[in-house]
Amino acid sequence: RRIVAYAAERFIEVIPEIEFPGHSDEVFAAYPELCCSGRAYTSGEFCVGNPLSLKFMDEVLTEVLELFPSKYIHIGGDECPKARWKECPLCQRRMKENGLKNEEELQSYFMQRIEKWLNGHGRNIIGWDEILQGGISKTATVMSWRGSKGGIAAAKAGNTVIMAPNTHCYLDYRQTRQQEFEPLGQVKYLPMRQVYALDPYEQLTPDERKYILGVQGNLWTEYIPDFRQVKHMLLPR
Ligand code: ACM
Ligand code: ZN
Repeated sequence: RRIVAYAAERFIEVIPEIEFPGHSDEVFAAYPELCCSGRAYTSGEFCVGNPLSLKFMDEVLTEVLELFPSKYIHIGGDECPKARWKECPLCQRRMKENGLKNEEELQSYFMQRIEKWLNGHGRNIIGWDEILQGGISKTATVMSWRGSKGGIAAAKAGNTVIMAPNTHCYLDYRQTRQQEFEPLGQVKYLPMRQVYALDPYEQLTPDERKYILGVQGNLWTEYIPDFRQVKHMLLPR
């Protein structure tokens, strides 16, 4: 609440990302029954065949909507391995019942269900470019991170897009080649020149450009212990 208010006073809107159905290990540590195996695992995903997972998400998002007034809610969708869904009777049953051909479509089904729920509450979703894989609705906004190609495809299909390609916008990558002078972090290299070379309208016609809402710099903080280092990574890029 304090962050949202602090930002609002400065005309900034905070959009939360509540990650589904992968990248949720902290959830599984507390609620292992939401995993396909019923036991907590790492780098796994929600059991989307289990009605409890859907109930859990509705409850979490109800709290999120109370906290965040933003029109958009980011619901993740990236890097979901989906391997356990192939072996899980509940997930396979849900695929069969809904005529879904593969696990990509199962993820789409799940994301679109969350989207409908959020639309019903007056909000729109943002998802990482993986949400394109099994098909998306017209009202979803795509955040392109695995390069720009997902964002280009989404804009051509008439979906709104935020460009955050890791080729230009990942500010957790190092900014010099002199690694011995840089703090511990991702070993990838992203100099300032490359950041400023981003063309968010790449390959788009003037008509398609209107779907690009803007760009985002991602500063993931796995290797960032304090604000001093935040500034080191952020500036001047
Ligand atoms: C991402 O970096 N996995 C969006
Ligand atoms: Zn499952």
